[in-house]
Amino acid sequence: MDFRRAWLGALAPLAMLACKSDAASTPPPPDAVTFPAGFLFGTATAGFQIEKADTHTDWADWVALSPSRIKNGDTPDDGGPDALAHVDDDIALMTQMGQNAYRFSIEWGRIFPTQASFDSNTPDAAALAAYDSEIQKLQNAHITPLVTLFHWALPNWLSDVSHPNDPQGWERPETSADFTTFCSRMAQHFGGEVDWWVTLNEPLVYVTTGYIQGGSPPGVVLDATRAFDVARALARAHASCFDAIHQADTVDADGDGKAAWVSVAKHQRTFHPEDPTDQDDIDATKHVHYLWNQWFLNATIRGDWDDDIDGNYTGPNDKQGDPTLKGRMDYIGVNYYSDTLISAHRGVVIPVVNAAVIQDHLPTDRPKTDVAWDIYPEGLRSMLEEDVAPYSLPVVITENGIADRADVNRARFLAEHLYQLGWAMKDGLDVRGYFHWSLMDNFEWQNGFCPKFGFASVDPATGARTLRASGSEYEKIISSKVVKRADIDAMPAFVTTDFCP
Ligand code: BG6
Repeated sequence: MDFRRAWLGALAPLAMLACKSDAASTPPPPDAVTFPAGFLFGTATAGFQIEKADTHTDWADWVALSPSRIKNGDTPDDGGPDALAHVDDDIALMTQMGQNAYRFSIEWGRIFPTQASFDSNTPDAAALAAYDSEIQKLQNAHITPLVTLFHWALPNWLSDVSHPNDPQGWERPETSADFTTFCSRMAQHFGGEVDWWVTLNEPLVYVTTGYIQGGSPPGVVLDATRAFDVARALARAHASCFDAIHQADTVDADGDGKAAWVSVAKHQRTFHPEDPTDQDDIDATKHVHYLWNQWFLNATIRGDWDDDIDGNYTGPNDKQGDPTLKGRMDYIGVNYYSDTLISAHRGVVIPVVNAAVIQDHLPTDRPKTDVAWDIYPEGLRSMLEEDVAPYSLPVVITENGIADRADVNRARFLAEHLYQLGWAMKDGLDVRGYFHWSLMDNFEWQNGFCPKFGFASVDPATGARTLRASGSEYEKIISSKVVKRADIDAMPAFVTTDFCP
């Protein structure tokens, strides 16, 4: 996303010291890590990014309204993977790699294209049939589906991109109520086949791109008040959706004793002060770290509601142990990509947060991806230990991946991250699965098609998929369930190639 780039601004490179959060207090690196039988090895995708004609969504309107907002004027309809027409091809790719799980989204605006269809509970029959058939085919291939119910595209009858100054989407009270109904209906319809659910993808990234950076619907810039209103609405919407799914999905499809596993896909990062000797930068880093990695989880796991988002529970609307929020995660879905630099003084300082957030072109000597994010596998384990393990819940890595159009870094990236994950598991973390972003190259939101995250490339003319060499590394790891340190060390070193223009 561009916001990862936008806040770099005029920040000058300064040497960074490892902060406390990265100093994992664990025994020496293991020689090898292993994954248990039944561990979910998958890939992740999202409807708007891989389907064509997801027309009744705010994202479709957004792309149409102003193509210049998207790099190269790309649209998912022109050169995208057209996944609903290539289900067999995609399942063949998963099977080739030995995957036993797949995360994808069911698109609200495709199932209910109009307000009238939603109000009368008349789902689009073709849309339901398409997802039914996909799930059936996944089951036939012994691939466990993990379904996301909101991956950033809202039905356009709830979000009008031509009026960004009016309350849109999750700012409208009916959106959360309707989402709960949608969750209930989807759990009822698909619950016989689906046990693993993600209610919301990356709620705080959604808020940041839509209301701070302005590169996603509704396209509002630097409005922290509206951003926090939406963040609060999303936390509560998750809790209601959680309840609705549990009420409606009572079928234990995979026989593990639990009919529904419900979480969000929570984007978690590591954070460092831009100047580790500057107290303001250190304080800002602590605050952003709390806001980003802990606020949402504290609310929905412990019921600790920090309404004014100031880091304590003394505000007039704050509450601890709130029964309407507490215990609303069956597992913690974690999306992990990279590291972050925080400055209190320079760059675009976000109001209320009082910090600039820098996510790419970091002045470190770490190798970079094609979108200039640091390759930082150690951060996965340190973040899990510091910000996920304390909640004592099972964990699923719902996304982790790399923009690497030359496919020179992906195999090592995968092995290094799985090694760090396996290490965290050796230390006691209960991790149930890992989903790599992504199965195939897709429409990377405002970055269009340049960043290539796929194990498979997609021919823009024919939609034909070709598995890249890194796909065989995944196949090797999945079949052996082992990652050896010595094997990683023998792989080619990471290289920083040209960034996406
Ligand atoms: C995650 C999202 O933030 O990162 C995905 O859940 C997204 O939808 C992925 O595609 C890659 O990031 P980007 O910014 O390049 O689209």
